[in-house]
Amino acid sequence: MKSGITAWRSPSNIALVKYWGKKGFQLPGNPSVSMTLTHSYTETTIEYSQKADSEKPSFNFLFHGEKNITFERRTGIFLEIALKELPALKHFHLDIESSNSFPHSAGIASSASSISSLALCLCQINQQVSGIIEDEEIFYRKASRLARMGSGSASRSVYGGWVLWGETPVISNSSNDYAFPISDYANKVFNTYYDAILIVNSGVKQVTSSEGHKLMESNPFREIKFLSGSQNVIELIDAIKNGNEKVFRNIAEYEAMSLHAMFLTSNPYFVLLKPETLQIIDRLNKFRNESGLEFCFTLDAGPNIHLLYSESIRERMIAFIRSDLIFFCEKGMWIDDRIGKGPELIQN
Ligand code: PMV
Repeated sequence: MKSGITAWRSPSNIALVKYWGKKGFQLPGNPSVSMTLTHSYTETTIEYSQKADSEKPSFNFLFHGEKNITFERRTGIFLEIALKELPALKHFHLDIESSNSFPHSAGIASSASSISSLALCLCQINQQVSGIIEDEEIFYRKASRLARMGSGSASRSVYGGWVLWGETPVISNSSNDYAFPISDYANKVFNTYYDAILIVNSGVKQVTSSEGHKLMESNPFREIKFLSGSQNVIELIDAIKNGNEKVFRNIAEYEAMSLHAMFLTSNPYFVLLKPETLQIIDRLNKFRNESGLEFCFTLDAGPNIHLLYSESIRERMIAFIRSDLIFFCEKGMWIDDRIGKGPELIQN
């Protein structure tokens, strides 16, 4: 009887060109590009043991050592998908334990890190129980494809640095099926990027991302969003290659605003921005005009600001965050994160 344990740490990522709206089964309406983070991650450990009695798979799930019905249900849905892709796991019982490095109530989307860490563990176990060791590129591609089926943004977290998910004519290996790392193309300035996550509100989102994606099906701006997202990916990759921070900023901020424009033009509409979000944006624009520094902000599906900047201006950005921005953050909360190397196998 086979049994064992595996654990992966997988980081979250922040998209610069956003995936919002699907085609087919978990395929993106347009390609997206993200930066993988370092300090915001999920660790997932799975202990697996072969079952003697039945073909039926089973699992237990704990989050930070405790039962969590919502996450357990989501894990169950993902496992059903995963077992179709990795049928060898059908004969196993899985004890899954997960924890996040960032506070649960920080209002940071955790599906990218949690689903990618789960997908990596499952692909690892699949190798162990089947005895077929895949080459690294195939292993990560398989994990990215599987993660995508649980959460689109999770497909990108399987890789470090700058990551593309979705077909674009400018990268020959790009695919809607799985993500593809593009850091090798990046100018060195972008490999020193930081992300200050300013927590404006730590509440749970009032619209889940699956509900939001669903609303895109009837959004009148759907096709325009897909077209402009596809064009923005081409221009953003070019800016990343050439170290053009100004073009990068224009695209990132436009994408952040058009993501929220999609929320506002859904039916029913939903508003995720808070007054403090707009106040921070206002301060950032003034600071940029006065200082001439090149930095940018982006937003995920929530009110929190991701402030992206390069290492060369770190001291001035930290000073500005402390003097002008943390006042708008809930209990002064912010996370000092940066570009990261991607997932890590921590137990095998
Ligand atoms: O991965 P999902 O299905 O939770 O969708 C996430 C979409 C955004 O986070 C809003 C944008 C993105 O590309 O990460």
